[in-house]
Amino acid sequence: MHAVFFSLVVGLAAGVAAAQAQAPATAPTPLQAHLTGPIPPLVKYEIVGNTTIPQPLTERPGDPVRGRRVVTDASNSTCLICHEVPTLEEFPNQGKIAPSLEGLGSRYTAAELRLRLVNPKLLVPDTMMPAYYRTEALTRVQRQYVGRTIYSAQDIEDAIAFLMTIR
Ligand code: HEC
Repeated sequence: MHAVFFSLVVGLAAGVAAAQAQAPATAPTPLQAHLTGPIPPLVKYEIVGNTTIPQPLTERPGDPVRGRRVVTDASNSTCLICHEVPTLEEFPNQGKIAPSLEGLGSRYTAAELRLRLVNPKLLVPDTMMPAYYRTEALTRVQRQYVGRTIYSAQDIEDAIAFLMTIR
């Protein structure tokens, strides 16, 4: 009886160790909680004048401090792959293949940035910029993103709050 119990415990421990060994190297951080678990329904939004989404996607106002973490998160399509943001000088090797986001908050309104982040294809149909809040009409989507948006609705609002501070 003891032997059976012992092998059961050892077996369980080995199973746990194996599961840990298989855990992906980049386990989702709390920042990316929306990339695991049940898929939240897409927040409905209204596009006004073809260039803006005036209404925030969430009731909670955007948090610029969290937004800074969202847009610089190297494990989740950071803007810095393609764009330069001079005020984020602690991040080296910023992208140079897209326009610099210098002075963004003086050049854009939050409503314009919201559409640009949610679905930039509506502004530039063949853009390579990802649609951060879209689940339809995407091609060759990585498994972790199937059915999911790159950013959560709150991520979009927090990102906008940060981007508006870039003057
Ligand atoms: C894969 C590359 C890529 C990524 C990642 C990317 N963009 Fe872009 N973005 C572009 C390109 C290219 C353009 C130029 C216009 C176009 O082709 O859409 C652009 C245009 C823009 C513009 C308008 C440019 C201007 O200065 O008028 C804004 C604003 C913008 N991006 C913000 C962002 C933000 C914020 C993020 C991150 C949340 C981001 N982009 C992520 C490629 C990218």
